[in-house]
Amino acid sequence: MNILAVESSCDETAVAIVRDGREVLCDCIASQVELHRIYGGVVPEIASRKHIEAIYALADQALQQANLSRKDIDAVAVTYAPGLIGAVLVGVNFAKAAALALDKPLIPVHHIRGHIGANYIAYPDLEPPFLCLVVSGGHTLIAEVTDYTKMRILGTTLDDAAGECFDKVARVLGMPYPGGAALDKAAAQGDAAKYQLPRSKPGANIYDMSFSGLKTAALNLIHHAEQVGETLDIPSLCASFSQAVSDTLVPRVVQAMKETGHRKLAIAGGVAANSKIRAAILEAAKQLDATVYIPPLSLCGDNGAMIGAQAYYEFLAGNVADMSLNAYATKSILGEQI
Ligand code: KG4
Ligand code: ZN
Repeated sequence: MNILAVESSCDETAVAIVRDGREVLCDCIASQVELHRIYGGVVPEIASRKHIEAIYALADQALQQANLSRKDIDAVAVTYAPGLIGAVLVGVNFAKAAALALDKPLIPVHHIRGHIGANYIAYPDLEPPFLCLVVSGGHTLIAEVTDYTKMRILGTTLDDAAGECFDKVARVLGMPYPGGAALDKAAAQGDAAKYQLPRSKPGANIYDMSFSGLKTAALNLIHHAEQVGETLDIPSLCASFSQAVSDTLVPRVVQAMKETGHRKLAIAGGVAANSKIRAAILEAAKQLDATVYIPPLSLCGDNGAMIGAQAYYEFLAGNVADMSLNAYATKSILGEQI
């Protein structure tokens, strides 16, 4: 089954064609990152306008790259939530028109389920059940993926997402948007023990976490240094910050593995590209004798292929939409309005 998959929830317009949930025939992306960089973050209206300009040509490019014609497409999938509402609406409307014109099923895909689905592409043998740490710009959660379309949230951030904090700290340090990757690069040369930053303590639900205290502590440290004219060791600050994020995430994942008994652990989302988190997850999995699934960097950030992969399983589970499909800025991974 060839699924034409559309992703437009933030600042990447992406169209991919994925066969049977695992084989990527093409994965086309038109990134807007350079455009938003001058503003230091995504400008939602500009994002929507750029999606609408790019999407049709990108779909044509996808067909060409896959060496397919429109009649070879068996279904159209689209990210319908969550994301910047104007941006998501562009993808949803395009996908509806394409499904109608091709007379094929329309498959709505939750963006975060798509990030988890990226692992099915990277690891053709991976099957649920498994645990997944999802760390993106807008979401941070530990999910138990019991089946391709059934999941349980064990814990989540109670405030900021890890990616938001990376981006905020990087921005204050003068790094270009989106700062997570630049901060990670700088951290490679630093000493992670140099600056003392807080780790969120376990609360009522031991798997929940918080990043706003860490973010504030890092920002205060930077502003204080500016005020007193102290020169900060930027690589070490980046390393200390990344270490604190990793130390907040990884012990909770380890605990979840121990308590649930799962020995398959996947990670997903843009922040899953972080080198300290990747290394800590690999080490933790080794200690637990668990199999770890870490997608390549190209599948961690937003892309169309991940939507096409998850869409296949949504389709098999009967999750198809009609022409009344709407877009949602927020929606839980379980499909509930939040
Ligand atoms: O999953 P994603 O592409 O978009 C959302 O769904 O939000 O994640 C984007 C986030 C941004 O916050 C970006 O700075 C962060 O992922 N990111 C990183 C790294 N690469 C991307 N954060 C830390 N280290 C990285 N290497
Ligand atoms: Zn994403």
